[in-house]
Amino acid sequence: MAFTYFFRDAQTLELLIEQALPSLRGRAFIRIWDAGCAHGPEPYTLAMLLREKMSDFVFRNVRIHATDIEPGFGQRIAAGIYAEREVKRIPERLRERYFEPANKPGHVRVVDAIREKITFAEHDLLGLSPPREDFSLIVCKNVLLHFDEEHRRRVLRMFHRALRPGGLLATEHTQKLPARVARLFETISRQAQIHRRVEIAGDTRTYLDGPHELAGQPAEEAGVSQVLPGRKKSGLFSPFFMR
Ligand SMILES: C[S@@+](CC[C@H](N)C(=O)[O-])C[C@H]1O[C@@H](n2cnc3c(N)ncnc32)[C@H](O)[C@@H]1O
Repeated sequence: MAFTYFFRDAQTLELLIEQALPSLRGRAFIRIWDAGCAHGPEPYTLAMLLREKMSDFVFRNVRIHATDIEPGFGQRIAAGIYAEREVKRIPERLRERYFEPANKPGHVRVVDAIREKITFAEHDLLGLSPPREDFSLIVCKNVLLHFDEEHRRRVLRMFHRALRPGGLLATEHTQKLPARVARLFETISRQAQIHRRVEIAGDTRTYLDGPHELAGQPAEEAGVSQVLPGRKKSGLFSPFFMR
């Protein structure tokens, strides 16, 4: 199981929400993509923080699309049931508000008002095909660092395509945007690595190099591996990926 936990890097998520909030009010749907979300602590944290910072009226429009490549990852997200030890880092006030006893000893369950905001789907980022192209926010943390620079650039270009105009992207602190895609985004917080989509005239593929990109050829046909180094196509992460 991938390494993750509730309220991991909550400060960045809070900053992201604060930056986005003015443009989200008045939207009929606020679509958020949590890409590489593991077994759910991150999208649930995001939903809880959004709930804290938004009025009832705005929060009812939130839809979080949680995706990961790991087969079966969504079962725990759907059930929303976690061991008590997994939620003990959560501030008590929030724990009491957003968790209830589960029908399983030593476990708690995320309340329906939060659970119903999240849908999940298996999705491979390296397939370079976003689930939608109207996201207001994309959170992709502690995932890009596992890709080589070329795949990172391609995934970032896909994120640019998947965001609405003015949409925000949050990546891991340790990853600056590669120079070749930096023009696709305006970095609004370097410390937190939050980036705003910039409108680009023409074809954003020219921000990448490689003849297969410009020819629009699928990566696999062009001989580019869709499988991360150290990872079997349908297998589990090797310890190398578990941080
Ligand atoms: C270290 S976890 C990060 C989880 C969460 N985002 C966080 O920061 O706590 C990395 C996640 O990326 C997922 N992942 C790795 N390669 C992926 C790919 N090609 N497409 C989608 N998800 C991928 C893994 O399955 C794993 O759940």
